[in-house]
Amino acid sequence: MGSSNNCNDMQVPLINLSLLQQDSQTKSHVIKQIHQACTSAGIFNVINHGLSETLIEEVLKVNANFFELPLVTKEGLISDDILKPVRFSTNQGGAQGIFRDFLKLYAHPLEEFLNSWPNNPPDYRDKMGRCAVEMRKLGIQILGAIMESLNLETTFLKDNIEQGMHMVAINSYPPISESKNIKKIIGAPQHTDHSIITILLQSSSGLQVMDRNDKNTWKYVPKLKGSLLVFVGDHLEVLSNGKYKSVLHRVVYESCDETRLSIASFQSLGMDEVLEPAIELVDEEHPKQYKGSSLRDFLKHLASGESKPFIETLKIS
Ligand code: SIN
Ligand code: FE2
Repeated sequence: MGSSNNCNDMQVPLINLSLLQQDSQTKSHVIKQIHQACTSAGIFNVINHGLSETLIEEVLKVNANFFELPLVTKEGLISDDILKPVRFSTNQGGAQGIFRDFLKLYAHPLEEFLNSWPNNPPDYRDKMGRCAVEMRKLGIQILGAIMESLNLETTFLKDNIEQGMHMVAINSYPPISESKNIKKIIGAPQHTDHSIITILLQSSSGLQVMDRNDKNTWKYVPKLKGSLLVFVGDHLEVLSNGKYKSVLHRVVYESCDETRLSIASFQSLGMDEVLEPAIELVDEEHPKQYKGSSLRDFLKHLASGESKPFIETLKIS
């Protein structure tokens, strides 16, 4: 979708997660790579992540089938209430210059929510449910490695993150024909994610990130077959007391003849659990840089329509 554009591609670090299971020297090398990726680009690719090629294909297909259903079958899921565990939104008309449909699903504990997920297509819950479980497992594994990369106690992972929220967003960007005479289409406006980390599966390129190591220029993130992307989110920026910065990204394309899909898995703490900079990372030399906040605070901020990015509201000046 996007890379035919003259904008450069981003060099995204590639992490082989299977190496985390090897000897301690190999493992600590991977942890260093993760540390490096989080400090510089704020985004990395992972391979050997546990989601099989078959599951990835099946989940893209079942979501494509869902978005292709006539609007009347999805209308009941439309809501402006961002606290709803299942929420569909459509914007194929390009209101405010944005072209995107999405479905947002709460996904943990899965048993609590699965019955409210779409059951048309009939295999939706089965395929998407398996994908959500694998993405969460993966998220916890990556967060464990990130905690190590910051020399943080892994009890935080056990006590807080494993009890946390998991939301999944599936985005569908409609094909735009050249005849519409639209030059540049915004699929998603620029933003950082509120999560601790986001795991992203994209069916084709179109995602751009701000390359802060190259004069803050936008770069396409090429799709690497079989890999998944990991983003540093706002709550990791807070937890790390600014050592890692959340990555600014958007979706842009110039015209395309097929629908682009992406599946984002957001790993967060519980809805009302306040996330603060880790005490281990705060001292005289590194004073606390952010106020504590919960996922609910973020959602309230989003609902308020406030244009200031959430992370900016947390910075202690
Ligand atoms: C988003 O970050 O909102 C969407 C990412 C994507 O579609 O690639
Ligand atoms: Fe995002």
